[in-house]
Amino acid sequence: MFQKIEELILEVENFKVESREELESFRIQYLSKKSPLTDLFAAMKTIAPEERKNFGLKVNELKNKAEEKFRALAENFGEVAKDNGPQLDPTLPGEPITIGSRHPVSIIRNHIIEIFNRIGYAVAEGPEIEDDWHNFTALNFPPEHPARDMQDTFFMDDEWGMALRTHTSSVQVRVMQNSKPPIRIIAPGRVYRNEAISARAHCLFHQVEGLYIDENVSFADLKQTLMYFAQEMFGSETKIRLRPSYFPFTEPSAEMDVSCNICNGKGCNVCKYTGWLEIMGCGMVDPNVLENCGIDSKKYSGFAFGMGIERIAMLKYTISDLRLYFENDMRFLGQFK
Ligand code: DAH
Repeated sequence: MFQKIEELILEVENFKVESREELESFRIQYLSKKSPLTDLFAAMKTIAPEERKNFGLKVNELKNKAEEKFRALAENFGEVAKDNGPQLDPTLPGEPITIGSRHPVSIIRNHIIEIFNRIGYAVAEGPEIEDDWHNFTALNFPPEHPARDMQDTFFMDDEWGMALRTHTSSVQVRVMQNSKPPIRIIAPGRVYRNEAISARAHCLFHQVEGLYIDENVSFADLKQTLMYFAQEMFGSETKIRLRPSYFPFTEPSAEMDVSCNICNGKGCNVCKYTGWLEIMGCGMVDPNVLENCGIDSKKYSGFAFGMGIERIAMLKYTISDLRLYFENDMRFLGQFK
């Protein structure tokens, strides 16, 4: 037996490998299941116990020689040795890559932007930390006027009376001050109010403000523009209605409702059995606001509107609790494509 192993070791050493094919025959001859190694390991049991250790060492010597030679040659031929640690198995299914999705507020914001882009509105932006002038005074909120209480404000503790903006209407002031009519913009962004967090209120939310200023802009233009928006957003069957309201910066002012897209106006618990859903405030820009921003109110008129993005998304996706938007729960967020 020992002699046989010595011979095999010599054979392995002298085996000539000059091609991949020869390497493969070497592997089959000395390392596969059909190789003498398999028989030799099987024969281990039959060897007398006192000789078994030496026998084992010799068989291992043969195995190591064959393996080493194979590995070295395989590297030469650019092949990875088959028994060299864990191997890449290209037939295994890949690691799944989870694909993210947009936040529902982003989806709706982009949709609103796209709807207004189509009729010539450009996106405008402004700072989230605002001064009193842009957030209130220029918009016709007189000092100490109770209208300021309509929006609970986070004031900064500083000498300038800076605050986190309570609405994106501040952006219309900046745009009017910095450009000449015709002006057609929408201003999406974050706004802040000092409110206790509940299913219906949050200290942070998102709005889109709209502004159109030109010669001869009328309330009919406002109504038609908002009807176009409502039908693009909620479907071509959607109806709108305007109810008189009050905002310091518009005169006249209105709240706009759309027919409930859940019950089609028949009445359900989302529309509280009225058939209507309130979605935004709007009105004709008050001449005082135009003058405050350096626009001649004799020559120009315009309309403005403002809506909450979370509110639109709630109606579109029937989401019942505002807090869901801010909790970052993937089970919630993954549902919107
Ligand atoms: N700024 C108002 C709010 O935050 C929304 C609004 C109402 C904006 C009427 C407007 C408007 O431009 O004309 O409640």
